[in-house]
Amino acid sequence: KRVAILISGGGSNMVSLVEDMTGDHPARPVLVLSNKPDAGGLAKAQARGIPTAVVDHRPFGSDRAAFEVALNRVLDQVRPDIICLAGFMRVLTEGFVQRWDGKMLNIHPSLLPKYKGLHTHARAIEAGDAEAGCSVHEVTAELDGGKVLGQARVPVLPDDTPETLAARVLVQEHDLYPKILRRVAEGDRSRLDLT
Ligand code: GRF
Repeated sequence: KRVAILISGGGSNMVSLVEDMTGDHPARPVLVLSNKPDAGGLAKAQARGIPTAVVDHRPFGSDRAAFEVALNRVLDQVRPDIICLAGFMRVLTEGFVQRWDGKMLNIHPSLLPKYKGLHTHARAIEAGDAEAGCSVHEVTAELDGGKVLGQARVPVLPDDTPETLAARVLVQEHDLYPKILRRVAEGDRSRLDLT
């Protein structure tokens, strides 16, 4: 299976996915694509010998569809079987999601369906939740709304800040996402919850 990974930043989730795709793993990374030319994850991918591409969203302004035409032009060249959104911070239109229907996964830093969207850790702390975590889900047109394939949980501690909670959740993201990708690449879409 051919996997393309879309990033916008440091790419720590991308690195976890790439480092798991070795040996008898049924998938291999064929592209790391960023919408940000300065994304730190690009150098990490290049250091691992993975082809990279940048499709800067800024020249397209508010024309999401035009940006996505440019994304698809690059993606169609590598013919991915699976697309992993990993810290990718652009909202995708229904047209793009339909084009890749059933092939696109995302990791979201909350226990979905709670806290779709942004600032998930601050919202969990504000709500006084005892637990937080991350979810890997199939991407649909509804933001953070697709079928959840797996979750991992962490405690929220009394003195947590959004940053300390984010760091604790990120450790779990790096464990969960590779496990789910491996199962999906093997054709297994059953739910896997860690911890
Ligand atoms: C992290 O906050 C993670 O929870 C979310 O995207 C952010 C950056 O991740 N998925 P990464 O280090 O770029 O993978």
